[in-house]
Amino acid sequence: MEEHEMINAQTKLYGVIGNPVRHSLSPIIHNRVFKRMGLNAVYVAFEVNDLRGALKGIRDLGIDGASVTIPFKTRVIPLLDQIEDVAREIQAVNTIKNEGGKLIGYNTDWCGAIEALEEGINLENKRIILLGAGGAAKAIAFGLKNKGCQVFIYNRSLNKSKDLARELGFNSLSSLNGVDPHVIINATSVGMHPHHGESPLPREALRRGMVVMDIVYQPLKTKLLQDAEEQGCRTINGLEMLSRQAAVQIEIWTKKKPEVREIKEDLWQVIKEKESHD
Ligand code: ATR
Repeated sequence: MEEHEMINAQTKLYGVIGNPVRHSLSPIIHNRVFKRMGLNAVYVAFEVNDLRGALKGIRDLGIDGASVTIPFKTRVIPLLDQIEDVAREIQAVNTIKNEGGKLIGYNTDWCGAIEALEEGINLENKRIILLGAGGAAKAIAFGLKNKGCQVFIYNRSLNKSKDLARELGFNSLSSLNGVDPHVIINATSVGMHPHHGESPLPREALRRGMVVMDIVYQPLKTKLLQDAEEQGCRTINGLEMLSRQAAVQIEIWTKKKPEVREIKEDLWQVIKEKESHD
């Protein structure tokens, strides 16, 4: 056995804190990345009830870093020692780094989304319809603001889209008509397993040449992306944002950038396996 494959007294420990987390793909993905990078590190899932206690545990046990997921991304903020500017503005932390007992909070969701979009399109001055006004939508909206996009937010609960739009200086929409967007982004959970057949948009809203991104990754090809493909749009699936936010997270922890392509391949394999069992 190679030395880096052994768990020993030097092994660094990372994990995801959330509730529920037993369905999380993060342990599989992160452990594969650590192994490929030759790091003596493991990553586990912590199903947390007492958040304050969990953070004390991270400090006292010297756990090196954590991913943060639902429902703790906002609640964790007052319990950390330092928050990076963007995460503070978004009011959501998805990454904690333990620097010698000092816990620092970051957000990598927004850069994951922006990097994914920029693979396919130059975002400057583009008109974008953002579907949703929850935590994920807020992180993406923040990234789009940094890129100088013109964003229109559309959400089931109009008061939430109005609030988010006001906060960022964007417009909210009460109907999808009247905007001719270059890009449409689904940041709602509509279409997620087990509601495969649902789309957040009527197919007629999709036109040839548009870029359509979905943050939902189970299934990989959502109804929205299926419709978009059939209408001649360019599509970006949920793996693109997920793999990039994971890569940025690992870089924050280890100061080494993993291969996004390999993370994407791992995720694809794991999700396909899950899909075949569902
Ligand atoms: P996340 O942190 O993953 O963004 P969230 O904050 O709960 O999760 O936000 C979920 C988003 O999906 C919201 O925009 C929500 O719309 P509401 O603000 O009206 O609740 C949207 N959403 C979830 N289920 C939906 C559905 N069936 N139809 C339309 N929008 C839905």
